[in-house]
Amino acid sequence: MADNVGNSSGKDYRLDVPPKSGDFHVKGLSSCSWGMKNRLSRIFRPSSGNTVMLAFDHGYIMGSTSGLERLDIVIEPLLPFVDVLMATRGALRTCVPPDTNRALCLRATHDASVLFEDMSTGGGAGLDMEDALRINASALAVQTFIGAQGERDSLELLCRTVDLGERYGIPVLGVVAVGKQLARNARYFLLATRILAEHGAHMVKTYYCEDFEQIAAACPVPIVIAGGKKLPEDEALTMAYRAVREGARGVDMGRNIFQSEHPAAMAMAVGKVVHEGFTDREAYEAYLEMKNRS
Ligand code: R5P
Repeated sequence: MADNVGNSSGKDYRLDVPPKSGDFHVKGLSSCSWGMKNRLSRIFRPSSGNTVMLAFDHGYIMGSTSGLERLDIVIEPLLPFVDVLMATRGALRTCVPPDTNRALCLRATHDASVLFEDMSTGGGAGLDMEDALRINASALAVQTFIGAQGERDSLELLCRTVDLGERYGIPVLGVVAVGKQLARNARYFLLATRILAEHGAHMVKTYYCEDFEQIAAACPVPIVIAGGKKLPEDEALTMAYRAVREGARGVDMGRNIFQSEHPAAMAMAVGKVVHEGFTDREAYEAYLEMKNRS
């Protein structure tokens, strides 16, 4: 194992050189199997190379969350505006019409609930690959805890899920969860995103932060950003705009959509930034227009 003496952190990110993606529109994944590429193409639109994932898996550790009290009511109106539903199998089966043609990213782990002081202790496998296939998952999401107590177990779970994903052609989203004691800064996200990609994650979810360009450049697979806590709509759109401009391939956004004053308008506006090159200001105007019309 490499020791950490003289193994200083990277500095030369060559931000002037665009990523090489080969003959496939998803970064770093041109040599995957046909089935995996087909699923990735349902996640990342070939026309933009980007994705809008709607995250509504919060209940798996938090129970009933503000904005998600009635999954059977709040999710369906958002379907036209998003590419992927990121959820637990329990939510999908009970509250999402099975005739949806949206891609599904299934939460594949169980983790400590919000009742625990330290939620970064790690969890375990949340479903069988067989059930993921039955549900027709386009991807599986694995929570990881780099630098926290759950690091070892969560990386083990990531590796095993990637093994199964490779076997069945299902890509794996490595999710960077930030332990309580850790800072949400570029230093941490550079480390965590790269570690997940090197362990085989086909895409990585992290948070937006300063120097995001470096994080995106150093990660050999696509990064999508989580929205994090609810912000005013214009600020959330600015975050999405900056993230995409700096190399994110989309968002996996929850609270900033479903807790918005007008969730459907917000989902639509995020899509304008992610897929249509709208600036944050243009997208906010589109949000206001749709909100005021309804
Ligand atoms: C939280 O439990 C999940 O990992 C969410 O999928 C993730 O945090 C994204 O949702 P939000 O945009 O609300 O942070």
